[in-house]
Amino acid sequence: MKIKSAEFVMSNSDVAKCPKSMLPEYAFIGRSNVGKSSLINMLTSRKSLAKTSGRPGKTQLINHFLINKNWHLVDLPGYGYARVSKSSKKIFQKFITEYFGLRQQLVCGFVLIDIRHKPQPIDQEFMQLLGENGIPFSIIFTKADKLKPKAIDNYVNDYKTILLETWEEMPRYFITSSSKGIGKDDVLEYIDSLNNN
Ligand code: GTP
Ligand code: MG
Repeated sequence: MKIKSAEFVMSNSDVAKCPKSMLPEYAFIGRSNVGKSSLINMLTSRKSLAKTSGRPGKTQLINHFLINKNWHLVDLPGYGYARVSKSSKKIFQKFITEYFGLRQQLVCGFVLIDIRHKPQPIDQEFMQLLGENGIPFSIIFTKADKLKPKAIDNYVNDYKTILLETWEEMPRYFITSSSKGIGKDDVLEYIDSLNNN
């Protein structure tokens, strides 16, 4: 799929105020600093459509972007940031869970995982939450430029083994690097196929 246009629509912390249109929507979620905003820039070939930073906690709001005038990409704040309470009920900022619970337009949530880090309970918990609520999701491994191909294979195999302890099958997954443009076409083709379903 070719991205012909990508426009910022709005930022807010209130799910009720998100765009009312029923255009198909795809949201990027994951721990702070995993590369959600960078991935949006990579997919849209826009350098600074979404704001990125080396410091965790850059994205604080729900950000909607309109792509090709007919679907939305959503950049979300990271979870697992130190400022968020650790009590299990409050692990995720309230509006992130509300976003996933309330957004009927959401076609697929992309859960981003930094390919350099060991599997983290908070990511498994988040996927569990999505699964329990019947919200479709895929996994996007980020920062693949940081590992050699063999190490990527090993990492993904280990990740699969862990996930298959709880899940019947491995969710659809993508290996990406925003700095090297890896995985861009795969993710865009996947979104295109879902848009045309
Ligand atoms: P929050 O908004 O704080 O939750 O972070 P985020 O998940 O949106 O991450 P962001 O895109 O701001 O990127 C965080 C840091 O990771 C930045 O310093 C990026 O340059 C870096 N980064 C993102 N993607 C990649 C990648 O594919 N490769 C490498 N090497 N660095 C990356
Ligand atoms: Mg961000």
